[in-house]
Amino acid sequence: MWRPMSNGMSSAKTFVVAVVGATGAVGREMVRTLERRRFPVSRLVALASKRSAGQTIPWHNTELTIEELGPTSFAGVDIALFSAGGSVSRDYGPIAANAGAVVIDNSSAWRMDPACPLVVPEVNMAAADVRPKGIVANPNCSTIQMVVALKPLHDAARIKHIIVSTYQATSGKGHAAVEDLLAQSRAVLGGMPVEPDVFPGQIAFNVLSDWKAGEGDYSEEEWKMVHETRKIMGDASIGVSPTTVRVPVVNGHAESIHVQFHRPMTASEAKSLLRGAEGVVLMDDTYAPGVHPQPAHATGTDAVYVGRVRDDLAVPGALNLFVVADNLRKGAALNAVQIAERLFTSSVERRT
Ligand code: A2P
Repeated sequence: MWRPMSNGMSSAKTFVVAVVGATGAVGREMVRTLERRRFPVSRLVALASKRSAGQTIPWHNTELTIEELGPTSFAGVDIALFSAGGSVSRDYGPIAANAGAVVIDNSSAWRMDPACPLVVPEVNMAAADVRPKGIVANPNCSTIQMVVALKPLHDAARIKHIIVSTYQATSGKGHAAVEDLLAQSRAVLGGMPVEPDVFPGQIAFNVLSDWKAGEGDYSEEEWKMVHETRKIMGDASIGVSPTTVRVPVVNGHAESIHVQFHRPMTASEAKSLLRGAEGVVLMDDTYAPGVHPQPAHATGTDAVYVGRVRDDLAVPGALNLFVVADNLRKGAALNAVQIAERLFTSSVERRT
């Protein structure tokens, strides 16, 4: 039974926080983000598979021992951040919620469940107030940075159609994928044959379609961008035409976005809307080689960088943009921690 209530939490209160998948690329970033943003943690429970139990990770000035995830892991936990894959979230998300934790889940397991809000704080934080299953879903990394950039424009002129091409970094596929990129790169540079490990082919010095097939010859990742954008923006009429590819970048996703509106929008108006928009850094420079949002600059930072804002040359009133963000931060860990910050530093719903 759920009911809205103020639990009287204030920033002075501290919380028991669990990170599920604490040894992974996103899980480690979640731990770092909690520390960096001084989230009021009384106890951090770092969970992973049996393989990692007993290992340690840095936490403030000490080392925290990884515990094996199990049905009793969530006793006394207030907030559970999950990033250990869909099946772990499907199995253990409800267990954590039943134990009384608010679950913030980075997998795709619950994103399209009508009973789970799908939240980007800059866009639709109010949706997190209603969570019948006790689970708040963190969106797909590519979708998060796109909606942060487009929300101010949508509010002004209502988006009709988005054509988006992604250039996604290997860290979005996890720690092992980064290792695969580096190993493949060493092989190529050494004149050795490439032996892909977690990628479906050569990623070093190449570009790959890297996701399972979805309906109609689109990948699952492409469908995520369609469905999640509509759910977060609260507008099922938005057309999304996506093409997603993986590029040989360690960290930081880039996106080329063409956007059409229900009324004409100029680049000049868009820039004024984006300047100062929450979570956005507008890169307003006129075109010059090498002057634009780049993964190498965005990595290790929190913002969504929006640049190359141009009037479309063929479609009057439409725009083209180039958007870059750290996919492990705003695309995953930071977004999840921001949800927790906003839930737990104001009135929240708790399971009774
Ligand atoms: P482990 O390191 O013990 O395998 P990444 O996204 O970088 O691949 O990381 C995935 C994370 O999810 C890791 O922390 C991994 O733990 C964790 N994980 C994967 N499968 C399980 C599982 N069955 N139970 C608990 N944690 C899991």
